[in-house]
Amino acid sequence: MASKLSSTIFIWLILLTVLLLYFYSLILPFYSTPKSSKISFKQPQLCNFFKGKWIQDPNHKPLYDETCPFHRNSWNCLKNQRENMGNINSWKWVPENCSISSHIDPFKFLELMRNKNIGFVGDSLNENFIVSFLCILRVADNGAKKWKKKGAWRGGYFPKFNVTVAYHRAVLLAKYQWQPGIAKSSSDREPNGVYRVDVDTPAEDWVEVTKFYNVLVFNTGHWWGIDKFPKEKPLVFYLKGQPIVPPLGIFEGLKVVLDNIVSHIQREVPRETLKFWRMQSPRHFYGGEWNENGSCLFNKPLEESQLDRWFDPSNQGVNKEARQVNQLIEAAVQDTDIQLLDITHLSEFRADGHPAIWLGKKDAVAIWGQDCLHWCLPGVPDTWVNILSALITSKLESE
Ligand SMILES: *[C@@H]1O[C@H](CO)[C@@H](O)[C@H](O)[C@H]1NC(C)=O
Ligand SMILES: *[C@@H]1O[C@H](CO)[C@@H](O)[C@H](O)[C@H]1NC(C)=O
Ligand SMILES: *[C@@H]1O[C@H](CO)[C@@H](O)[C@H](O)[C@H]1NC(C)=O
Repeated sequence: MASKLSSTIFIWLILLTVLLLYFYSLILPFYSTPKSSKISFKQPQLCNFFKGKWIQDPNHKPLYDETCPFHRNSWNCLKNQRENMGNINSWKWVPENCSISSHIDPFKFLELMRNKNIGFVGDSLNENFIVSFLCILRVADNGAKKWKKKGAWRGGYFPKFNVTVAYHRAVLLAKYQWQPGIAKSSSDREPNGVYRVDVDTPAEDWVEVTKFYNVLVFNTGHWWGIDKFPKEKPLVFYLKGQPIVPPLGIFEGLKVVLDNIVSHIQREVPRETLKFWRMQSPRHFYGGEWNENGSCLFNKPLEESQLDRWFDPSNQGVNKEARQVNQLIEAAVQDTDIQLLDITHLSEFRADGHPAIWLGKKDAVAIWGQDCLHWCLPGVPDTWVNILSALITSKLESE
């Protein structure tokens, strides 16, 4: 009798286990889809570093000069003798309701980052950002060495602290490649090719290296325009190896790439990695596009009241795309653990901060026009570094 009862219980237990396993397997895929692995990110109640104003302070001096070995020549405005550099760097960013020290302490920061690595992924505006970061950090370790391993385009290693900070160039973030056209007839000598973008495939420049980094800073934005990909050489978007039909416009393509890359990051990059998305860096072409003699020979920041006229898309101005791109970025990273580095507004003021005509090469302006896109270094990206390092510090210290 007793053995009959226990075998009945045994059978029920087995049935129950099987059932539980079955239900578990049902909810498992639910937990591993990118949407639901997006954890809601409790941000510590920090002040908002991104709203505020620029205040002139004659005692404000950059931490580095033209001798920093990490400079890229065309942004080295001191060496290229850009006018007004003293003035440009006398402005400091003061957030509205809180204070941020006007410089990071590179010693303290690198000590905090000991045995850790910071990676930047994106276009030349992230390269502009990292050059500033490398030059600032080098103040604490002048044994810093150039570092270009793992496919990095540019980077530095800080031996005193065993910290690597590097940039991986991937202008669209997704994989893209030139695909030559196929002649439709024997007289068709130059069939049009296209740039094929695989929206669901991250560029190989960064996809394998994310686990090396403890902090990642992504961006894309400046290549999503018809000046980079004109009608004769358009972007054509592919999903799962097939062209998307109907074909997407360039901004629609950007939206799909952002969604796919963000999903990839949520799926593949470890949760403990600090992830940032740097929002669009605004351009300041005045009076025309870069190839229409657009210029930025300003000697002080814009007034707040001027910003909408320059940047609001409803005004159809030359520089309207930063805010448009930002809307797509915000939508894509919503409800993820990727934190927005919203440097757009503070940078919008700084029409005075670009290399303009001081590019370090004689014919550069005649060929490329003024550079009202990248930033002089030292300059505005030093403030981005300040804010990024404050956010990293508060995250790491709260752990
Ligand atoms: C700053 O504080 C004021 C008053 O409390 C508030 O109205 C404003 O929204 C705050 N600004 C930011 C950027 O948090
Ligand atoms: C340097 O940091 C890496 C992690 O980036 C770690 O694997 C390595 O052990 C560290 N080296 C030393 C000498 O501490
Ligand atoms: C730009 O300036 C040059 C020299 O002043 C002039 O020849 C050219 O027509 C201008 N281009 C445009 C698009 O305005």
